[in-house]
Amino acid sequence: MRVTINEIKAMKQRKEKIPMLTAYDYVTAKIIDEVGVPMILVGDSLGMVILGYESTIPVTMEEMLHHTRAVVRGAKKALIVGDMPFMTYHTSVSDALSNAALFIQKGGAQAVKLEGGEVVAEAVKRLVDCGIPVMGHIGLTPQSIYQLGGYKAQGKTPETARKLFKDAQILEQAGAFSIVLECVPAPLSKLIAGKLSIPVIGIGAGPDCDGEVQVVSDVLGLYSDIVPKHAKQYARLAEGIKAAVTSYVEEVKSNTFPTMEHGYTMDESILSSLRG
Ligand code: KIV
Repeated sequence: MRVTINEIKAMKQRKEKIPMLTAYDYVTAKIIDEVGVPMILVGDSLGMVILGYESTIPVTMEEMLHHTRAVVRGAKKALIVGDMPFMTYHTSVSDALSNAALFIQKGGAQAVKLEGGEVVAEAVKRLVDCGIPVMGHIGLTPQSIYQLGGYKAQGKTPETARKLFKDAQILEQAGAFSIVLECVPAPLSKLIAGKLSIPVIGIGAGPDCDGEVQVVSDVLGLYSDIVPKHAKQYARLAEGIKAAVTSYVEEVKSNTFPTMEHGYTMDESILSSLRG
């Protein structure tokens, strides 16, 4: 049985921190799930960290569903949240519902995530009323990068702080089971997490949220050139992979790999019959 949204909410009540990671493929999801991460986000960060796009904006429903299915096959216990791509939930509440339904029905996710506060509240309410759990996402919302003017902390002025505080409460009232706060000053995140009864999951939002979400390639050090301020590298896999590939190339070139240890033998008489 998978982790449910009620179990995630109960973790906040017990003051038990909620670790969350992104995953985009079968094997990574399987490993993360085996460790016991309760909630996995198939983030639209897929576009940047896996597909090589410059932002999350080009990511399509088709790409998200393809990767969501792989993650669902790999992770047997975690609650899987599918990230709704740019403009798949803004055009109308009905579009939001049809696209969210695809994540649940065709993707196999148990919840969806939408960026925005008040502007998506009606869609959030409709999805929840129709039985689709929703995670909100406010603060730095990468799908609005052109409007925000860059990847930078949000809620630092009196107006934007007030707006974030209000948006968080609106999302809770609309029925979201949890919200992500991205790149928000730590004291404001603390205030919001203290005010809401649903779990507040931070990323670049300080130590006082109810949980933390990180992009798995940041945590594993798959990129040595770009490390966001909010990320911590728990491994340096890019270096490990480069070292392994360098050794492989050297050994193939020098004919020290493969050896018969990695090959198959056969009956000598069959060979002789072939030689004639
Ligand atoms: O797409 C993503 O990975 C996200 C997280 C950064 C929260 O939205």
